[in-house]
Amino acid sequence: PYLLVFWPSMSHLVLNNHTRCIVRKIDPSVVSSALRSVAGLPEVDLVRAHKQHGELVSAIASTGVTVHELPSDGFPDSVFIEDTAVYAEHQVCVTTPGAPSRRGETSRVAEKMHELAALDWNDMGVMDDGLHVAHVHDMDQEARLDGGDVLFTGFEFIVGESTRTNAAGANVLRDCFPHMNVLTIDIRDCDALHLKSACSMAGPSHVLFGGEMGRFICSQVEEKALFVYEKMSHLPDTEAANAIYVNKVLIRRADEEFPKSADALRALAAVSGGASECRVIQIAADELAKVDGALTCCALFL
Ligand code: GLY
Repeated sequence: PYLLVFWPSMSHLVLNNHTRCIVRKIDPSVVSSALRSVAGLPEVDLVRAHKQHGELVSAIASTGVTVHELPSDGFPDSVFIEDTAVYAEHQVCVTTPGAPSRRGETSRVAEKMHELAALDWNDMGVMDDGLHVAHVHDMDQEARLDGGDVLFTGFEFIVGESTRTNAAGANVLRDCFPHMNVLTIDIRDCDALHLKSACSMAGPSHVLFGGEMGRFICSQVEEKALFVYEKMSHLPDTEAANAIYVNKVLIRRADEEFPKSADALRALAAVSGGASECRVIQIAADELAKVDGALTCCALFL
């Protein structure tokens, strides 16, 4: 790997300039029918899940983005909208999710993306090149891609080849984003569902990892990434490493949910994009976590 001198400031620019976020309502069928990788956990408490999800959406809105909320359309997992599209630099790639029961979720998301693409983004003051929408299924019928397996660090994509995402899916990303590095990590032997179950961006040029799986991903990033990241933080708890950094706000799991990681979580803000400029919001999210939902799962930032 090599360090480009402009890289930290570019990462800053990318992560701090989001203008929109698409979220999706929780479908009541999440209780009976959402996919779950760990059997035997208690049922999702729908009331509590709504409360926690509402707090997350409010936190997202406080970052200054316009929030668009889509209906759930009867799909048990559709609140996890992250899996249905990948966005970077005015380009959207609508995915073909790995789980057959989730493929129908993409049509509503694609419809919204095309609606946004039809807007004059110049009028929004930030985007100046429109929004382009591509579909994985148009590019490769065999490709499978879940957005939860895709970490965009600012300039490069880190993609987990998982039970949901295959090599063809990563190749479609390469076609969609030809000027960006796409590195793949085989996580099929790891015990969490998606790549971002154990890592996320905690700030510009600051990658956060958690648990054993996070250690493995971190070692692979050190070996394969095109960029040297300024900060790689590690937490004892895998799930605590899924945080949202956007527009100088770090939305992360609450201290009381992960006491072992609390000290390290508190230290994150001090290194995320400059000590003084990062606001931190703690969110409890253990209800949707029963069905593999993490914080990033519930949001698609543009
Ligand atoms: N329950 C989220 C997923 O399996 O995709």
